Amino acid sequence: DWTMAAFKEEAIAKIREQVGSGRVICGLSGGVDSSVAAVLIHEAIGDQLTCVFVDTGLMRTGEADQVVSLFREHYNIPLVAADEEERFLSALAGESDPEKKRKTIGKLFIDVFEDKAKGVGGADFLAQGTLYPDVIESVSFDGGPSVTIKSHHNVGGLPERMNMKLVEPLRELFKDEVRALGRELGLPESFIGRHPFPGPGLAIRIPGEVTKDKADILRKADAIYIEEIRKAGLYDSIWQAFAVLLPVQTVGVMGDARTYDNVLALRAVNSTDGMTADYFPFDHDFLGRVATRIINEVRGVNRVVYDVTSKPPGTIEWE
Ligand code: XMP
Repeated sequence: DWTMAAFKEEAIAKIREQVGSGRVICGLSGGVDSSVAAVLIHEAIGDQLTCVFVDTGLMRTGEADQVVSLFREHYNIPLVAADEEERFLSALAGESDPEKKRKTIGKLFIDVFEDKAKGVGGADFLAQGTLYPDVIESVSFDGGPSVTIKSHHNVGGLPERMNMKLVEPLRELFKDEVRALGRELGLPESFIGRHPFPGPGLAIRIPGEVTKDKADILRKADAIYIEEIRKAGLYDSIWQAFAVLLPVQTVGVMGDARTYDNVLALRAVNSTDGMTADYFPFDHDFLGRVATRIINEVRGVNRVVYDVTSKPPGTIEWE
């Protein structure tokens, strides 16, 4: 794709010009955007870049291992992996307001990046995989809507005191363009084809207070859902699919005993840029199969519902 090849060369030139001989830290979230940003910046400035993968305790099953092995083994890009589960979960304890949760997480990411920057002798720049839709949905002073819909953690909520400047080479791109750029940069198809995953991670898929127990339940249920989607050959036909653990208990019956457990919502949408989306029309057999497996295999869930809301009026994530 000659357009992307040209974009890539231009982006590399811009990064070199902005960064000069400075040091850059790039936060990896496990998603496609931050990975593409990191590989692009690495092509531009090589070992002036250090990547940091923060395990927030809010990642999906196996996520940390996949990212670490992609960068260390496939690309040979230096990567600092920080296990910060404790820090994130304790900062989120007691908090159930969606915007406060997002801001708490955004602030903690910066704290961790600053800590890790010290570890590599200081960094002048923080790189993020911010996309165009993130910019227009979160920023009210930049030509976007006058109402903030959500503070995407990689746009809103950055503390003013942060003393690193931002490098955001994907700011003009939409998701499909980022994927094209990723291919141009030689990222494996298995990685490029991954569904988007938000920076705040599972925290915004656990409405209400986030706890480790809830995150564990959600991880198990989400893994079953995605496994069934793959088995049905549907993964690549869906733009994004995930489970949401609701702070609602309902009465059920297992064997001859009463249960009183959580409701889990399944979400799947099709979209081109995340700005609008349609719910995915699974057949009922499929949904029934997933519900049965989750209820049988995941302790703590006794009811499964499917979200049939499109965007607008719903957003893709529940928070
Ligand atoms: P919403 O929920 O706003 O989501 O309809 C649109 C797309 O953006 C993802 N998303 C985020 N990505 N940081 C990110 O990097 C964030 O804070 C964030 N919030 C939502 C969401 O998963 C969907 O793909």
